[in-house]
Order: sequence, then structure tokens, then C-alpha cells
Amino acid sequence: MNALPKDFLWGGAVAAHQFEGGWNAGGKGPSVVDVLTAGAHGVSRRVTEVVDPTEYYPNHEAIDFYNRFPEDVALFGELGLKCFRTSIQWTRIFPRGDEDEPNEEGLAFYDEVFDCLLSQGIEPVVTLSHFELPLHLARAYGGFRNRALVDLFARFARVCFERFHTKVRYWMTFNEINNQMDTNNALFLWTNSGVTLTEQDRAREVLFQVAHHELLASALAVRIGHEIAPDLQIGCMISHVPVYPFSCDPEDVMAAQVANRDRFFFSDVHVRGHYPAYALKEIERDGYNVGWQPGDEEILAAGTVDYVGFSYYMSTVVRAGVHNDEESLNGALSNSVPNPHVKASDWGWQIDPVGLRYSLNVLADRYEKPLFIVENGFGAVDEFASDGEIHDQSRIDYLRAHIEQMTVAVEHDGVNLMGYTPWGIIDLVSFTTGEMKKRYGMIHVDRDNAGNGTLARSKKDSFNWYAHVIASNGLAR
Ligand code: BG6
Repeated sequence: MNALPKDFLWGGAVAAHQFEGGWNAGGKGPSVVDVLTAGAHGVSRRVTEVVDPTEYYPNHEAIDFYNRFPEDVALFGELGLKCFRTSIQWTRIFPRGDEDEPNEEGLAFYDEVFDCLLSQGIEPVVTLSHFELPLHLARAYGGFRNRALVDLFARFARVCFERFHTKVRYWMTFNEINNQMDTNNALFLWTNSGVTLTEQDRAREVLFQVAHHELLASALAVRIGHEIAPDLQIGCMISHVPVYPFSCDPEDVMAAQVANRDRFFFSDVHVRGHYPAYALKEIERDGYNVGWQPGDEEILAAGTVDYVGFSYYMSTVVRAGVHNDEESLNGALSNSVPNPHVKASDWGWQIDPVGLRYSLNVLADRYEKPLFIVENGFGAVDEFASDGEIHDQSRIDYLRAHIEQMTVAVEHDGVNLMGYTPWGIIDLVSFTTGEMKKRYGMIHVDRDNAGNGTLARSKKDSFNWYAHVIASNGLAR
């Protein structure tokens, strides 16, 4: 029996800045990721003030999809993808972010990409903001601390909806908007909001300020999109790393509940159209000035999302009384401890397929909205074997186990799931480390951490395996 609906959106996911390259081509301006250097596992990426010609920036050329998209999209067609998730780089459309008129060359590029996808029968799924804030808005405006960005984002969204609504039906506003709840890691506030904390800042206050502006911007975008074309499906996108209590000690259970609220804050507002009591209480209790203005309540209420998109890679565990000082790059929290029941990837991401079924159920129960798994995948080193092929069995094992649990969630638990787009369908630049060697793709790209390589594409074993999965609507796995 086939549990998944006939129109299930099997796909692949990427973000424009991690694979397009062409960072200053076609009139594009620099974004907040264009000043991110390369890091490594355990080594943070640095933010430079401007683009410094003596530094190496892995996103600048990335895997050069900008110049090679017909070849890549042909491979996606061969895989049988029903949809392809990417983003529109804000700085291709508004190079500084605050121009009056959009950059036609940037719009024309995405027209070509979407036409190319549609000609292969692949539906584009588009994120409006995937860590691609114009650098000018970060430097001159202070990023999303500044309320002016609400309208600038809404204008960018309007231009995209007006131009592409006949080609793109599925949209998301801000990618992994809840990463920044982890204010200890400077990468997240920078990439989500274009913000760097100063010594005078109270981190949680700044967090709630930028959050408020982004939630308003997202709600306005949803309203504008629906005015332009009522059938558009516009979702939010959160990183979902479920937090388990280490034990049934009530203190551990309470610690997990508190931590999970940080995971849910953004989606609670996106879906319900108002702030949850626990957030209002924190803002009141700690005396934060969030910048509420008259009319904000109505904006939030009128711009609720149509579905909940989320990434799922791993779970985490917290234990009361533990305090880690290190920056957390791996979905970990200050009170995280290893889970003795699961293994981890080479980058320390805990592999937990049942956690996907659990997450689908938690999100379904909490929101009663359609769900969309828009990222899931296994970052690993891939090598060519002596037969000239890449046998990425561990990636197949990871994906198979997650697809199995996702199917149980639909078939047995009744979760309403729109689709599944594994992350990095083609090798690309890692977000957290800037590495190329942390690969997720079913298509290998010849490029290394230092930017050497021919950029040639080749299929891994997972390519043929996933093609069968899609062709059988998930049965042949
Ligand atoms: C998510 C992001 O955090 O996970 C992607 O939306 C990112 O942009 C992906 O690439 C995997 O993370 P990483 O650091 O392994 O590339």
C-alpha cells in the first residue's frame, strides 16, 4: 500500500548563496554571507567588515550554478524531482536593499532558472530570505534592529510575488528564522538578521527586537502574496531540533520544556498570529523594549502562514544543572549532553530518525497545519572508489531511515505532510563551516575547501537510489 499522496512533493533543497556563485554578477550586491570566511568543524567563520581581496570567501563562486544551471537542472530532471527548493538572493533584486527600483538583470536570471525547472516538470519552491540580507542593510541600518527593514523586506517580497507568482506557487519567508534564539553563536544573529551584538546589548532584548521586526515583515509578505495571488502557499521555515529531557527527573523535563519553547517561539507567532504567553511574560519580566507599535497586533494576525516548513537533521538532549560554555554549532544548548542512544555524524550531529517522526507529530499536534520537510540530510566526506564511483552508502542509510519514519508519521499517525526535500541535493558550501568537504549531495561537485577543482558534476550511488524512491512514491527504498 502506498501511504504518501500521489502529488507528494519529492524534491531537493539548496540555498542560493551556497550554490549559485556569481556573487557580484548581473548587478548583484554583497550580502551578509559574502563577508563570511571559511571555517571548519569547531572553527567559526569570521565576518569581515567589507569584502577583503586578501581573504577567501567560499560563497563567492560556490559551485557556479549561476553559469551552469541548465546542466544542473537537467540532472535534477533525470532524478525525477517533483520540486526544487532554492532561494532568491535579495541582493540580486535589490543590490543594496533600499533602492526604489529592482534590478531587472537579477529578476531575469530567476525567470530563466524557474522556466528551466518548469520545462523539466519541476516545481520551484522558493525561500525569500535564506541568510541573504544585503550587507548595506546590515552596515548602514543595523540589520533587523531597524524597523525600516520591515518595509524594505515587504517591498522585496512584493516584487518577487508580482514577477514570479505564475511560476512559483510554494514560498517561505525566512529560512530557519529561529536559529538566532541561540544568541551565544554570533553566526546566527548575523545571518538571520545582519546583527552583531555589542557589550552594551542585552542579547535576549536584541533578539526579541529583531524577531518582532522579522515577524511583522513575514506577516506583511504573506498578506501581500495572497493579495497578488490567493492560491499561493506561503509558509514559515524553522529549524527543528527537538529537545529531549536526559531523564524523567522533573528538573530535566522542565529544562527540556523551556528549551523547546525557544525552538517554537517564531512558529508560534507565524502560525497563530499572536505572541505566546511565555514570550510575553519574559519580555515583561525582564523589561525588554521590543519596539511594539499600534497596529502591530493586527499585522501579525492578518499574516498567518499556510504551512509549516522545517529542517530536521538531529535531536538534542538537555540535563538540568549542566552549563557548557562553548559556542553551539550543532543544535546544542548550554545544558546539552550527549544522547547515549544515538550515533553522531563526523560533525557531531546526532542521527535520530525516530526524532523525525516525533517532530512531525509534535508540530502537527501543535499547529494543525500542513507540514513540509524542506531540509534533511547527511553531511559527510565522500571519496571516489577505485572503480571511479562514489558509494555513499551511509547517506543512503541515513535518508532511508528518515523516509521510513516520515512514512510512518503519515500512514500510522495521520500527519498531513506536503513533501520532502533533502538538503544539498547537489554538493554545496556548508553554511556553518563554509567547507566543501562536508557534502550532502547526490551529485558530486569537484571542488575542495580552498576553492580548487574543475567543478565537474558526477552522480553518487544515492542518485540512482533516490530516483527509484521518487519513481515509486517512496515504496522502493
Ligand atoms: C540549515 C540551513 O541550517 O542546515 C542550510 O538552512 C545549511 O543553509 C544546512 O546548509 C546544513 O548545515 P551545514 O552547516 O552542514 O551546511
